[in-house]
Amino acid sequence: MMYAFILGHNPKLSAAEILAVLPKAKLVIQADSFLILEDVKIDCQKLLRQLGGTIKIGEVLAEKIDQKIIVEKLKKVKASNKLKFGLSYYNCPKDKLGMEVKTELKEAGISCRLVTSRDKALSSVVVTKNKVHDFLILGNKFLAQTCAVQEFEEYSKRDYGRPVRDMQSGSMPPKLAKIMINLAQLKSSAIIIDPFCGSGTVLQEALLLNYNNIIGSDISAKAIQDTKNNLKWLVKNQELKNKIYTLHNVNVIQLSQVVTKVDAIVSEPLLGPTVRGTEKAEQIEKIVSELSELYTQAFAEFKKILTKNGKVVIVFPSFRVAGKIYELEIIDEIKKLGFSQLSDDKLIYSRQGQKVYRNIKVFRI
Ligand SMILES: C[S@@+](CC[C@H](N)C(=O)[O-])C[C@H]1O[C@@H](n2cnc3c(N)ncnc32)[C@H](O)[C@@H]1O
Repeated sequence: MMYAFILGHNPKLSAAEILAVLPKAKLVIQADSFLILEDVKIDCQKLLRQLGGTIKIGEVLAEKIDQKIIVEKLKKVKASNKLKFGLSYYNCPKDKLGMEVKTELKEAGISCRLVTSRDKALSSVVVTKNKVHDFLILGNKFLAQTCAVQEFEEYSKRDYGRPVRDMQSGSMPPKLAKIMINLAQLKSSAIIIDPFCGSGTVLQEALLLNYNNIIGSDISAKAIQDTKNNLKWLVKNQELKNKIYTLHNVNVIQLSQVVTKVDAIVSEPLLGPTVRGTEKAEQIEKIVSELSELYTQAFAEFKKILTKNGKVVIVFPSFRVAGKIYELEIIDEIKKLGFSQLSDDKLIYSRQGQKVYRNIKVFRI
């Protein structure tokens, strides 16, 4: 069976996550906005819930775009109301296929509505809210039918609905936290720590992904209290059972004094003060230098607490100011500590117009 995955805003990161979660699947094609895998048996809904960076999953119906196949699929649907269907185009332009399918169905006596949008593809919101049978036209070569779409309301509830959102030090998006945990490729028994836990986003997503050995730490007592409140809310709200987590109020450079053994560190550390883009080069260089020192010290502590082959999945900030990119140049020092880098340097999480980009890096000791 072949499956198509529609990638999120940061496609390279989304693709890396899928391949980390399904390491045995064969990659058929990776395009800008989708990838296709074969030789996989998956439960579409369950897998989509597990992935943070995929928008839709579809079953591939053919390696050609064939009107007949769409019509036959739709004829088999037992719709209680008017049948709604739509076409979503990825890596190819829109065409008139939808209208042609509609005409053919009408001629066959089937009452239907072609759901369209201004964009080339129907969004998860449109597909879910209108209960649309969504067909994916992929690079004008593969035809697939959507079997699961991202639960946008669930993410929004977890992001905006939780008791505390830390606007000052910045909450990370739950989707990114999930992607990072998946990139670590861990067993469900793994002990995971976020040593800059902030309001607890990584810990929250780890609990939802069924990891039960969770530790959070942070230098700020308020952050620890925020995490406590958010996790308490999550456990109650999602009716999670048997979830144990430990929290420590500690500076990362003293981490090994309170935590002795973990299998993975998944974290978005301090990204520095808000950058507006009007700063002078020296100001940005100072931020980069301070963060470089903190990160290098943190890695020295990580080394002390990680088990053999333990992983670190971490955000490195980079700053785009006045057409220049400023990065933390500490990879060599991290390697000297004994870590090897598993990820390439293209895993970036960013939104248009942002001055700070998040570079996602994976290391192993
Ligand atoms: C960007 S926030 C982390 C956001 C978090 N991932 C979330 O979504 O809530 C960075 C956190 O690092 C903490 N922090 C800063 N310096 C630290 C240090 N030296 N040791 C431990 N935590 C530190 C801050 O208190 C803050 O809560």
